[in-house]
Amino acid sequence: MKKNVFENADLAAQALARFVAGEIGKKNGLFYLAVSGGSTPARLFSLLTGSYRDVIDWEKIRLFWVDERCVPPGHGESNYGMTRETLLDHVAIPGENVFRMKGEEEPALESHRYGELIKRTVPLDEGIPVFDMVLLGMGDDGHTASVFPDQIHLMDSRKICEVAVHPVSGQKRITITGPVINKGRKVIFFLTGAGKKTMLEKIFQQDQSLPASLVQPESGGLYFFLDKAADPA
Ligand code: 6PG
Repeated sequence: MKKNVFENADLAAQALARFVAGEIGKKNGLFYLAVSGGSTPARLFSLLTGSYRDVIDWEKIRLFWVDERCVPPGHGESNYGMTRETLLDHVAIPGENVFRMKGEEEPALESHRYGELIKRTVPLDEGIPVFDMVLLGMGDDGHTASVFPDQIHLMDSRKICEVAVHPVSGQKRITITGPVINKGRKVIFFLTGAGKKTMLEKIFQQDQSLPASLVQPESGGLYFFLDKAADPA
């Protein structure tokens, strides 16, 4: 595990943008990327559309989502909608290389469809898709992707995608599962703000009751990009 701590969220995002651009540039052939939603990634995506827009070969990227809220793409809570506004509308990634989780569809059907899509599109190892990079966040309750503590069994699901339920709002989510996350060549937590600190300390102490603690990529490629406020030090 490699922890990178920066003075503030902007500097952390800039360092992560540099790292992401570097990894994409190093890869020969297609780059399979899975991104999370929430508010933190928007800071990164905005940077990628700035000084990195003409650096990254967007046509080599196959873009997937780690999770999606079961809402239409135009809904304010859509992870796809956030990504479209902050990234996709500003870079030349061909539409056919963007694989949206369809939050507007019936969750169980979409979860199955998306899992089959990933299996057909992303290289497999032992039947499990291998993403070059998985970008993760972490909720204040220790969830990651949309695997919440009360559904932690999804971290060892035999399926590629599952339907999850937000424990407070009851909102349904589609999420990739633990085995898919842990096949990622590089799995990156991008966490900023003091709200993450207490939970992150538990993650670093390997509290097995928390989904984010169970992110242990087989590749060993686990990275944390943090600002000082989020770092338990
Ligand atoms: C989602 C995300 C989720 C997110 C955390 C942290 O759909 O909400 O995929 O796992 O990473 O909730 O969200 P913030 O970045 O907003 O803190």
